[in-house]
Amino acid sequence: MAKTKAEKPAKVEKPTKTPPAETGAPQIDIGISTSERRKVADGLSNFLADSYTLYLKTHNFHWNVTGPMFNSLHVMFETQYTEAWTALDAVAERIRALGYRAPGSYAEFVKLSSISDSEAVDGTEWREMVRQLVVGNEAVCRTARKVLKTADSAGDDPTVDLMTQRLNIHEKNAWMLRSLLA
Ligand SMILES: [Fe+2]
Repeated sequence: MAKTKAEKPAKVEKPTKTPPAETGAPQIDIGISTSERRKVADGLSNFLADSYTLYLKTHNFHWNVTGPMFNSLHVMFETQYTEAWTALDAVAERIRALGYRAPGSYAEFVKLSSISDSEAVDGTEWREMVRQLVVGNEAVCRTARKVLKTADSAGDDPTVDLMTQRLNIHEKNAWMLRSLLA
């Protein structure tokens, strides 16, 4: 019987190595260095803490004010805290867009804020409430100015824009509140 040539085993193709898919998020590269983003985000965290503390103080006084000024102050405080509450979100989301975590707890806000938490103010002491809100709005303005400068030197125009808008509001609030005490 003629010897048949043994069939060559089919060549097993070696699996070719494919480069791993890039599943992770790429590094943030928006044209601002990591250290500059960090500085702006830290400043914005202070600003967020100040804004939140002032928001809560204003809402507290809206609830508790009494006396002959009740109606006008109750309404004025509501206008201010509603605007402030809405603005918090844009600040926190700017921190996230810069690549950092936004603070969001009372413990963090107490640590980061330049405004002291409200001591109980008697409801009839409307002048003291207004005085505290003047001081609070001005504190928010000073923090916004610091962040604005940091953002400006980092070339972070969206943060400069945001801080400019917040300054416009809080300087106006401070003026209106101060006018009540004249
Ligand atoms: Fe209310």
